[in-house]
Amino acid sequence: MGRLERDAADALAAAASSAELAEVETAALGKRSALAAAHRHLAALDPDARRAAGKALHDARTRLEALAAARAEELVAAERALMLGRDRLDLTEVTADEIRSAMTRGRLHLVTQTRRELEDVFVAMGFTVAEGPEAETDWYNFEALNIPPAHPARSMWDTFYLELGQPETVVLRTHTSPVQIHLMEDGPPPVHAVIPGRCYRRETADARHLPVFHQLEGLVVDRGITFGDLAGTIETFTTAYFGPDIHSRLRPGYFPFTEPSAEVEVTCTICRGAGCRTCSSTGWVELAGCGMVDPAVFEAVGIDPEEWSGFAFGFGIDRCAQMRHVIADMRVLTENDVRFLRLF
Ligand code: PHE
Repeated sequence: MGRLERDAADALAAAASSAELAEVETAALGKRSALAAAHRHLAALDPDARRAAGKALHDARTRLEALAAARAEELVAAERALMLGRDRLDLTEVTADEIRSAMTRGRLHLVTQTRRELEDVFVAMGFTVAEGPEAETDWYNFEALNIPPAHPARSMWDTFYLELGQPETVVLRTHTSPVQIHLMEDGPPPVHAVIPGRCYRRETADARHLPVFHQLEGLVVDRGITFGDLAGTIETFTTAYFGPDIHSRLRPGYFPFTEPSAEVEVTCTICRGAGCRTCSSTGWVELAGCGMVDPAVFEAVGIDPEEWSGFAFGFGIDRCAQMRHVIADMRVLTENDVRFLRLF
């Protein structure tokens, strides 16, 4: 119960306008809320447990309703103050500071903003957005992706294993590629999807790496898809997101689940190609892996590689944010220093 209530309370407290509050209230207290769902589960309990849980839910609801009412009052007051200020002054004289003092409003973390921007670029190209679980079985994270047990390529991903089931059978996904498998299992081609999500690798954080990071996977499966489609998609993405003066290049690469495979690199925006710590003095920064879906992957999910072909890519979302906003050291993304967060 504690977490349910806390999440709802946080959401209510974070609502930045009356309109947003109304939405949050519906989500937190309405028919389709987690609270209502918990209520429905009461029926399955025995009478004593039901009474206790029922009372806890009722009390939580009462507290949340009081919170919502208090927040509504605050917001209405802030909005009224803002409106009065506007009426009194020429609009151009209401400074950002005045608005801020009338109402403190949070914002989305840079990584979330970046994820949404990247999604928008791909949605504009006709992709849908999908998601998948962060804990995966070895099958999804590795085997179905043509990485059998003990395959040397496994060392490309330093893996966190969960203590669930047999040893080393459940992992925190090391990439978003396992969602390719889920999507192909979910229904027949065609697939045109991007999949954003959090990934985990056992490595030490440095200027360019975080042990918990985000990727945006892409998967296209259709008839007659070629490497040209892949290269064109990457190029369209690069200019749409970074602007025309940032160049990208594809270098031959290796991934067990794509053939041929390539690495996407862009000009290092920190040093503009001159060489610096962020790009290990190369002038280029790796942003993505990509390639044509390997027939072995199609076979693992029962798709006929003679009829269908496809490409896949996986971008680092944090890396995109770093390059776009010229952030020398990625670790600031996890420090939650408000002076940094407020910049975006
Ligand atoms: N999953 C790969 C990685 O994390 C990136 C990738 C995705 C490569 C899709 C090819 C195709 O390293």
